[in-house]
Amino acid sequence: MDSCVLLAFLLFCWAEAASAPDPPLKSIRLGDAVTLPMTVPKGQSLNNLLLRDSSREEAIAIWMDSKDVSVVNIKYANRVTFQKDEIAFRIANLSLDDGGTYEISTSFTSSSPKVLGSFLVAVFNITERISSLGNDSCYIYLDCEVGMGSGHRVTYAWKDSETGTTLSQVAWLIQLVHTNHKRAYTCAAQTPTAQSTFSFVLQHPCIPNMASPGPWALGSLLVRGLLVTAALLLL
Ligand SMILES: *[C@@H]1O[C@H](CO)[C@@H](O)[C@H](O)[C@H]1NC(C)=O
Ligand SMILES: *[C@@H]1O[C@H](CO)[C@@H](O)[C@H](O)[C@H]1NC(C)=O
Ligand SMILES: *[C@@H]1O[C@H](CO)[C@@H](O)[C@H](O)[C@H]1NC(C)=O
Repeated sequence: MDSCVLLAFLLFCWAEAASAPDPPLKSIRLGDAVTLPMTVPKGQSLNNLLLRDSSREEAIAIWMDSKDVSVVNIKYANRVTFQKDEIAFRIANLSLDDGGTYEISTSFTSSSPKVLGSFLVAVFNITERISSLGNDSCYIYLDCEVGMGSGHRVTYAWKDSETGTTLSQVAWLIQLVHTNHKRAYTCAAQTPTAQSTFSFVLQHPCIPNMASPGPWALGSLLVRGLLVTAALLLL
């Protein structure tokens, strides 16, 4: 009961809050964790924090008086922790549905809550299939799917990470590659307001990665995720 009242109050407060500039973007692989750090103004002591999904206007977790995190949203049960050393919330095991905008604030029960951090999280489901040709070549089929918040239409492109050449204007990519050729690919996902990219290297593109099976396993591991805001792209 108490938490319902609190939540109703929070939602009311945030409807009033001024919208911040474009939040920093984080691109994360499906099943991985995201760390959401906050900037604490000098001299301010932290005694309460609220993590919320600002695209859905839903509270996720509350941290009060240095106690454990209380997760108030069933969708995030057992997945949210507070990293004291980094002063950050961490959300584990991301699903596509977790993509969206997150916000951290303090003094959330007062009339003037302070936003300490805001992030757009893009969750990438990149899958790879290999079709061997029996010689030293194979076909690789790459598929990209990104969660960037509900209600956003996402368009996709595949690029060669090294040359920047666009290889595909759709969510999938088929390439004929040689066993010994190292390849670097980037999946770019675009919504009306933001673009996110995820880049990875296939060291031996024709050899499936036996070490980590599963739907999102890639031949060799991903090296970096990178996101750029739409604002930057328009320059
Ligand atoms: C991660 O989430 C998926 C559903 O999104 C679930 O099936 C899986 O068991 C979870 N894995 C862990 C380690 O919690
Ligand atoms: C990830 O993408 C693959 C290929 O499209 C699909 O089979 C799989 O179900 C997707 N995983 C999730 C969790 O949506
Ligand atoms: C392997 O076979 C495919 C299809 O027949 C061909 O296109 C490719 O060039 C061959 N690769 C090599 C290294 O000979």
